[in-house]
Amino acid sequence: VRLLPDRPLGDGVIVLRPWRVEDAAWYAATAAGDGEIQRWTSEPADLDASAVAGAIERMHASGAHAGLAIADAATGALLGNAGLSRDAGDPLLGHVSYWLADHARGGGVATRAVRLLAGWAWQCGMRRVELYTHPDNVASQRVAERAGFRRDRIARRVVRGQPWDAVFYAVDCPTSIRCPSGSRM
Ligand SMILES: CC(C)(COP(=O)(O)OP(=O)(O)OC[C@H]1O[C@@H](n2cnc3c(N)ncnc32)[C@H](O)[C@@H]1OP(=O)(O)O)[C@@H](O)C(=O)NCCC(=O)NCCS
Repeated sequence: VRLLPDRPLGDGVIVLRPWRVEDAAWYAATAAGDGEIQRWTSEPADLDASAVAGAIERMHASGAHAGLAIADAATGALLGNAGLSRDAGDPLLGHVSYWLADHARGGGVATRAVRLLAGWAWQCGMRRVELYTHPDNVASQRVAERAGFRRDRIARRVVRGQPWDAVFYAVDCPTSIRCPSGSRM
């Protein structure tokens, strides 16, 4: 049931580890203060550290959502945010989301993070992972494609009050790693 990993997920270049309450000020300042994150994600413009800290505490208590800091594997420096949640109606379906701080963009970090998240989803018993982007968010669509997702459909989403013709990407669990018992479900 818990999606929050007990140990960091890593690939030698980055690690994904659960957000901690002491990261809340960094998260709030980055998410609310960056024009690209405000343009392309659902992060509220008035996000503050106490709201983030509360969300992190609730996440640790329930474990039902994996809200993970993307950090440099060598230094631990914070680079961005990566999230995995289970679909409310379909336990085999996961949803991922991500953003990077401005200084961390352009180096393939988001692609690494999305690959790690998908691998974690398979370990958690999911069979398909989806993400969606604004139709004009070309960088994010490239990330999805480089991480092995395929363009699936266009569907209306309302993000912070704005209607989007959101572009959905999907990837299926490779048959080679499917576990018949769906171990962590
Ligand atoms: C989207 C985001 C996570 C991508 O981060 P990244 O790992 O640094 O990705 P890159 O900068 O390497 O770009 C990925 C690809 O998009 C291309 N790209 C980047 N910016 C672009 C732009 N403005 N227009 C067109 N292509 C662009 C890059 O050339 C690269 O293409 P390549 O695979 O052919 O080399 C990052 O830009 C970000 O945090 N943006 C704000 C938040 C956001 O959009 N989150 C995703 C919401 S769905």
